[in-house]
Amino acid sequence: MVKKPSENLHAEASYAPSKLEMRDYYLWTWTYWKRHGISGPSGFPIIGNALEMLDSQNPPYLQLKEWTKEYGKVYGITEGLSKTLVISDPELVQEVFVKQYDNFFGRKLNPIQGDPNKDKRIHLFAAQGHRWKRLRTISSPTFSNNSLRKLKTTVEDCALELLRHIEQRTAGGKSIDLLTFYQEFTLDVIGRIAMGQTDSQMFKNPMLKYVRAVFGEPRKAIFLSGAVVPWTGPVLRKVLFSLPQLFKNPAVHIIRQTQEAVEARIAQRKADEKAGIELGEPQDFIDLFLDAKADDVEIENNEDFTKTGVKVNRQLTVDEIVGQCFVFLLAGFDTTALSLSYSSFLLATHPEIQKKLQEEVDRECPDPEISFDQLSKLKYLECVVKETLRLYPLGALANSRRCMRATKIGKYEIEEGIDVMCDTWTLHSDKSIWGEDAEEFKPER
Ligand code: HEM
Repeated sequence: MVKKPSENLHAEASYAPSKLEMRDYYLWTWTYWKRHGISGPSGFPIIGNALEMLDSQNPPYLQLKEWTKEYGKVYGITEGLSKTLVISDPELVQEVFVKQYDNFFGRKLNPIQGDPNKDKRIHLFAAQGHRWKRLRTISSPTFSNNSLRKLKTTVEDCALELLRHIEQRTAGGKSIDLLTFYQEFTLDVIGRIAMGQTDSQMFKNPMLKYVRAVFGEPRKAIFLSGAVVPWTGPVLRKVLFSLPQLFKNPAVHIIRQTQEAVEARIAQRKADEKAGIELGEPQDFIDLFLDAKADDVEIENNEDFTKTGVKVNRQLTVDEIVGQCFVFLLAGFDTTALSLSYSSFLLATHPEIQKKLQEEVDRECPDPEISFDQLSKLKYLECVVKETLRLYPLGALANSRRCMRATKIGKYEIEEGIDVMCDTWTLHSDKSIWGEDAEEFKPER
């Protein structure tokens, strides 16, 4: 029988809990879901399900799907002291991600993410509440059609370079690993639109090894320690970022490069201004972010997203621009390379769909030069991409929210601080939504 430990064990900084109380506190957390009548995999005392959620051999998004089969569309897991409700019921998902957005205005953060309220280099992925809203409001216009139109030439140039490499390396019927080609491609695009890179670096990009390393094997010991003993998270983060050589932290190298690129652009703009040279069209995200202002947008729309009395800076700081470019690099690299790989795989294994798609491209884009407006006419291509992402929902673990204010979703009471995660893989293959052929690749659906 687990004794109810004293509340606020963590809030009281001056209070030193006894060993017995600590043990009770861990056991109390570990049994949280059971005590609330919600089933789930028990894992191990103290660490809960943390090890299973760090297993790269059986990735967590597939593990969640396995657990859903066993425990149903709503179940709970724990990772050290963090408690997560996993859902794949569409109505609950709608409740958390859309309707009750005001109660869930942050993502589930990893234990070494840093403080979302203090981190100067905060980015869209980790920001919460009013900080997220501000970043989102200021940077959203960079994703408008008008802005993306300006980046089209760069993307097209990288695509042509990719085709050149594929043709060269497949000469004589040689086979290639397309994923590595797509990784070179996506890094080239992002390098040129978010990192200040001026020309193609495909197959000679020194950044690739660092970016791949970020997506490598998770540092289990560090994440485990941060999950089980939360105060070690910020300490480990500090150590990882201050001694990158010792701990081989690739993120430090990427951030440094991004910082240099942003500072160089600011210096160049100042020099141009001094020399009377007018600011030209924005060339990339750095320019777009430097120009981004939230002049016409209402940032304050409800009290959670407003810090009353705090001056809202309507322009991004240099640190914030570095943060956004950094997260674009990480968020856009693997997701996009894998999406391209999966769609190539699905098209190769479904020649009739490939033929239909080819016919659409030939019909809508008869000339070698493709305009931005022609792209929007490629409806079947859009269906192919969406159906690929339904079957292979990438970045699925990002589909999570932290409860910031106690509430109820359906019949479930959710306390503040609880994370809610969507089991996207189950949702995307649910036969009650997609029909009996849910496992088939059918862009027409
Ligand atoms: C096929 C490619 C991609 C996939 C599958 C993907 C997937 C996702 C997912 C699942 C989320 C979480 C959504 C949520 O919490 O509601 C997300 C958020 C995000 N993605 Fe992507 N992504 C892709 C491409 C990109 C690219 C190319 C960029 C940047 C250039 C990017 C930047 C971001 C950012 C900044 C967020 C956080 C947005 C916010 O909180 O306001 N993603 N992405």
